[in-house]
Formats: sequence, C-alpha cells, structure tokens
Amino acid sequence: MNEIPSSFTGQRGSLTQNAGIGQGPVPLYPYRSQAFFELERDRVFRRAWLMIGRVEELPEAGCFIVRQIDPCAVSALITRDKDGKVQAFYNSCSHRGSKIIDVAEGRQTRFACPYHGWTYANDGRLANIPDERNFFDIDKATCGLKQIATEVWDGWIFVNLSSPPEVTLAEFLGPFRDHLAGYVYLGADTPVIFSATLNANWKVVSDAFIETYHIPFIHPKTIGPTFASDENPFGRFLTAKTLGPHGYASMYGNSGYATHPDHHVERIAYKAAASVISAAATNETEAFLCHPAVNPTASASWSMDDNLLFPHVQIGNGPGGFWTHHFWPLTVNTCRYESRFYMRPATNMRERFQHELYVGRVIEVILEDLKNVSTTQEGIDTGGQEFMQLQDSEICIRHNVSQIIRWAEAATVKEALS
Ligand code: FES
Ligand SMILES: [Fe+2]
Repeated sequence: MNEIPSSFTGQRGSLTQNAGIGQGPVPLYPYRSQAFFELERDRVFRRAWLMIGRVEELPEAGCFIVRQIDPCAVSALITRDKDGKVQAFYNSCSHRGSKIIDVAEGRQTRFACPYHGWTYANDGRLANIPDERNFFDIDKATCGLKQIATEVWDGWIFVNLSSPPEVTLAEFLGPFRDHLAGYVYLGADTPVIFSATLNANWKVVSDAFIETYHIPFIHPKTIGPTFASDENPFGRFLTAKTLGPHGYASMYGNSGYATHPDHHVERIAYKAAASVISAAATNETEAFLCHPAVNPTASASWSMDDNLLFPHVQIGNGPGGFWTHHFWPLTVNTCRYESRFYMRPATNMRERFQHELYVGRVIEVILEDLKNVSTTQEGIDTGGQEFMQLQDSEICIRHNVSQIIRWAEAATVKEALS
C-alpha cells in the first residue's frame, strides 16, 4: 500500500518542510519549567497584543466588560464611551489601588470605587473625589484610570500591557491580517460560552485543539467518522501555513458521511443545516463560505479551519460559522480555558433544537479533549521525556512552541517578529 501523503493532498512531511520551521524533536521544558513560565508571562503575555473580546460585547455607548488577563494578574475594564470609542483601563483606583468594579459586564457611564467613592467617567477621567478639600492640592487631571493600550481590528478587541507597545497591532498581525480581512462574523453578538479551569499547562490544552492526529483515538465515536475516513484515517490536514507568529490549518472532512438512518433526532435537527458540525442553515452562510480564508484549498472534503492567533487564541470556522478558544495561563501547570461558539438566535423551534444539539455535540467533543489534558501534564511532569516527537499533522504545535520560545528569548518584540 502506498503511504498516505502527510498533508492529505501533498507530499510526506510537506507542510512542515514548506513552513521552514525544522523537523527535529521539540523541547518539553516550556510545558513544565517555572523559570520559563515567568519568562513567558513577562516576554510573551506582557509584550504581545492579546485578543480579549469582540466589539459586539459592547453594543452601545455606556456598555462595559471586565476581562481577566490571568498570567499578568491584570483585571481590565473595557468601556465604550459616548463617542463610540472602545478603551481598556486597569481596574484599579487612583486613590489607593482598590478594584473599582467587580462584575463581568454591564451598562453604566460612571464607576464609583466602593472603598471611598472616587468616581470615574467611562473615558477614564476622574470625575469626583469625596471631601476633595482635605487632600493636598490634588491634580484630578492626572488621577484618571490608567489606560491599557487598546486597538480594534475587524471587530476584535486587543490590549497590550507594554506601555507603550513596542509594535502596532498591524505590525503584530502582519500577514494574518490580510488572511482574515473581510471575514464575515456570523452571529457575532450571541455566543454560547463554555469555560473551565484545568490542571495542565495552557499549551497542553491549546495543542489538543490544533492537531487531528488524535481524532481516531480520543474521538472514535463522536467526530471520528466526520473528521477521518478510510481514505484519510488520521484526518491529515488539507493544508497548513505559518503567517509570522500566527498561522492556520485547514482540516479534512469526510464528504461521504451521512447521518445514520436510525438517528431520527439528528436527521430532523440537521435537515436545513450546512453540515452536522454546524448550527447555521445553508442560506445564511453563503458570504462567509466564499471568503478565501474559509476552506482555503476549496476542497470538497473540508470540515473546518483553525486560525492561530499568537500567542493564545484560536479562531475556528466551519460550514456554519465561527468560534474562538482562549487559553489563559494561571500557573505553570494550570490554566483557564474559554470557548465561545457564535450563532444567531433561533427563530423557530426546529432551529432552537438544532442549536441545542449542536452545542451538546460540541461540548461532548471538547470534554473528550479536556479529559486527556491533566494526564498529559502529569506525564510531562514526570521528567521522563525531554522532547516531543512531532509529525506533519502537528505542525501548528511545532510552530506555536517555537514562537513562544523565540519571544521568550528575544530582547525586543521587533527581534521576535523579524
Ligand atoms: S481606593 Fe478607591 S476610593 Fe479609595
Ligand atoms: Fe480533539
């Protein structure tokens, strides 16, 4: 039997070879070293632009959200002011540092610190100090909330904890920006959110979502029959590319898959859907599916794409729309994971039913992945292995780890990006 090519349509090892990122073993110390964790925090998470949400979460002036940037212990208050501008601030009072807000989101244009009532406008200005005359020539103009550098690209909100950031968001995104430019974000204002705290280094969890080699072993009964088949039993990628520190992989789908005739519930639910891994109907997804970043090889055997937004985000897209995964380091061997699956609200019972089934199915698959991460970490922590042996379908892991190491070692962001 001829060997199946490494990318489903290419030559053995071709994706990794074409990317020019080496083919040797990849070290495991970034997954268990406390010293590396601290470098990663200071040189990756404190220097990179971090995607923390979408503008739809702040639909009107006066809306706000609070986001935790876990590795750096930063609580960020993100507001939309009366001019529509989205800005982020440290959630910390200029008086004695207290957190000024302790809810995840809401709508208010003024924020009063609970400790002594200093009050801030949603553009960060300090508006009022109770008993101001008992202070000593205090200059209110210099006592606003401390800003965090914020930029918005295609609806995504990014923050940067360097003051000032070494590079612009456009420089940071580089070719990734062109890759996704004009992408149609279906149902961007109505995500279903799934989150968990896990006993694994954040990269162990991130790695679990960017390779398909594990599908026949971890997901034999769920997505096994849709993401692999007799012609491609290990679900090798259709293609994958690096784009600066970012990248993408396009994944194989079994075009011969059909819902079993006895699975009546599934057959009713997916009657109008673009695919069984979709929550949208075909008539909604036309513009989205035409985008060149969606199914970039225009394959009839396509399931989904994973867009890797360095350092810790994946933006997935499938036949029905998009979703995101965030992987936030907490300690060297714990992390917070959050997924958001975007879909527009159901307009009738059948759609509602389809959405519920889709979400249930997605969570079942995610739980299969997550069940494996703590034991993977325990194995890594034994110290018995120094390296990972990665194959071509694990190109995204190789790229991400090598970029993390590169940023951790680089004196400047410009050097890391060069
Ligand atoms: S710490 Fe905020 S008003 Fe005192
Ligand atoms: Fe998986």
